[in-house]
Amino acid sequence: MSKNCVGIILAAGEGTRMKSVIPKVMHPLCGRPMLAYVLDLAKELKLKSTLVVVGHKREMLQELLAEYKAKPVYQDKLLGTADAIKRAEGALRSFSGDIIVLYGDQPLLREETLQRLIQKHNEADAAATILSAYVDNPCGYGRIIRDNFCSIKAIVEEKDAAREQKNVNEINTGIICFKKHLLFKAIAKIKPNNAKKEYYLTDCIKLMADEGLRIDSIALKGDVKEAQGINTRIDLAEAQKIMRYRMLEKFMLAGIGIVDPETTHIDFGSAIGQDTIIYPFTVVEKDVKIGKFCQIGPFCHLRPGTVIEDKTVIGNYTEITRSRIGGESFMKHFSYLGDTVAGNKVNIGCGTVVANFDGKNKQKTVIGDGAFIGCDTVLRAPVKIGKHAITGAGAVVTKDVKAQEVVVGVPARPLRK
Ligand code: UD1
Ligand code: CA
Repeated sequence: MSKNCVGIILAAGEGTRMKSVIPKVMHPLCGRPMLAYVLDLAKELKLKSTLVVVGHKREMLQELLAEYKAKPVYQDKLLGTADAIKRAEGALRSFSGDIIVLYGDQPLLREETLQRLIQKHNEADAAATILSAYVDNPCGYGRIIRDNFCSIKAIVEEKDAAREQKNVNEINTGIICFKKHLLFKAIAKIKPNNAKKEYYLTDCIKLMADEGLRIDSIALKGDVKEAQGINTRIDLAEAQKIMRYRMLEKFMLAGIGIVDPETTHIDFGSAIGQDTIIYPFTVVEKDVKIGKFCQIGPFCHLRPGTVIEDKTVIGNYTEITRSRIGGESFMKHFSYLGDTVAGNKVNIGCGTVVANFDGKNKQKTVIGDGAFIGCDTVLRAPVKIGKHAITGAGAVVTKDVKAQEVVVGVPARPLRK
């Protein structure tokens, strides 16, 4: 359906209100840049291609755009949204079809909504189809201006709106589908005579309507926050909450128990198996894999590169990073594992700490199947604990331990039989 549609994502802005050296669209939302969500949308829509208008610190967007095979087009001066779109014209010379305009700072939009917009655009055969929203507080947004027959005549920006126009509560979310040739024809006529002295993309609507071209729209259903643009870190925190909850919902519907969604944070790109239960105050960062029938938390922090196999219990005040822990293992209280590979049926006693950093490098620890690590053991990496070996409470293990061997003390030595 979207085969003959190209996406243009506007992402040239600096995002001054974020007060950051990082460009706004690169700020993370649930563990990945907000722009990645918009690029995902473009991918899900199966658009013919995606162009991203970049400007401020564009080198910081390069890698992400390459990952998505999105084509950057450069806007050196922020002259307004119409100017931004114009920068993409050259790259689209041989294309005829539709263009959907997306914003890099609107990561909460849903694919279904955009599908609905594109579908309406095609069915109505409109010059432009706007995604609008009815909001309680339209302040800051462009208002949709309709005539007595309800036909759209223009979009008027907040700063240029007359008093009665300011009362209009139907707003432009910014997402608009255009017929390409009509879009660039209109853009060529836009002048920056408005309060902000910018080339407004939204002026296309009046230009098109004045020519008698059809302008259509669909309104956002349900939660209008879906089209919320992120401008400040307050907006970002709010978006984070929404996105986080969406992900938790997906997990719960897939059979994962989340005891308290309010205090559970799971980053994008983590996988969890069915019937695993996540207890409150647990943070699962990106690239973490948890098997089936596990119990995680409360107060557990799983960091990137962690794999936990089926039926393993990771309890309270625990942190695991870049480590794998086998099935049916236990690490129930106050422990840290980093750069560790632990086998199946391992018991990591309360207070176990892996000393994986020697001041310069991260070192590896290996714990064999069935090993029993006594309470308060320090494993000074690099070190290997053999299968079914035992460390005594308080042991500081500095040398490899053979299979079945029992070591105790500081530094740990084999226990004489
Ligand atoms: C825009 C719309 C407004 C809509 C609102 C929804 C215009 C004129 N107005 O207003 O009707 O209600 O979005 O959020 O389009 N950008 C560039 N280059 C530029 C200018 C902007 O890439 O020269 C990018 C920005 O980085 C940003 C997006 O375009 O991601 C929107 O620009 P912004 O100036 O924030 O527009 P609004 O005033 O929010
Ligand atoms: Ca904005």
